[in-house]
Amino acid sequence: MAKRNIITLPDPLLRKTSEPVERVDDEMRTLIDDMLETMYEAPGIGLAGIQIAVPRRVLVMDVSRDEDARAPHALINPEVVWTSDEMAPYEEGCLSIPEYYAEIERPARCRVTYIDRDGARQEMEADGILATCVQHEIDHLNGLLFIDYLSKLKRDRVIKKFAKAEKQRATHAL
Ligand code: NI
Repeated sequence: MAKRNIITLPDPLLRKTSEPVERVDDEMRTLIDDMLETMYEAPGIGLAGIQIAVPRRVLVMDVSRDEDARAPHALINPEVVWTSDEMAPYEEGCLSIPEYYAEIERPARCRVTYIDRDGARQEMEADGILATCVQHEIDHLNGLLFIDYLSKLKRDRVIKKFAKAEKQRATHAL
């Protein structure tokens, strides 16, 4: 397994729509293992392929927050097939938007179909933090970020802040 580099705002790749995975092979399983290692080390509870600059429809999650009882999920070609009318707020963050958090409302429960790391079709019913996480990660596969749910004013402020930091890094890089 190898830890990969996580891209951050304002990297334009984050706005790219990821391509479906056609074959679940050893290469895909290695990618999943790398994504899990990268997510655990960050640390984070979810990571989409595009966040390590791989524009494929794959994501990993572990909302257990317990190093001794890890519960990793790997979802390939995930699709939300149902969402509850009931909404739930959650203070979200994103490994690609470091140290920024905001309360976002999403459907409280959802059902997602996907292919697992063995190539089998699966369906997951999620609620609580898992529902928030899976919707956040699937958004990444469609080039969406959680800041897109904020008002334009708030979103522009975040984007500007990260663009400025990026510019400063570029100016000081030797
Ligand atoms: Ni994210």
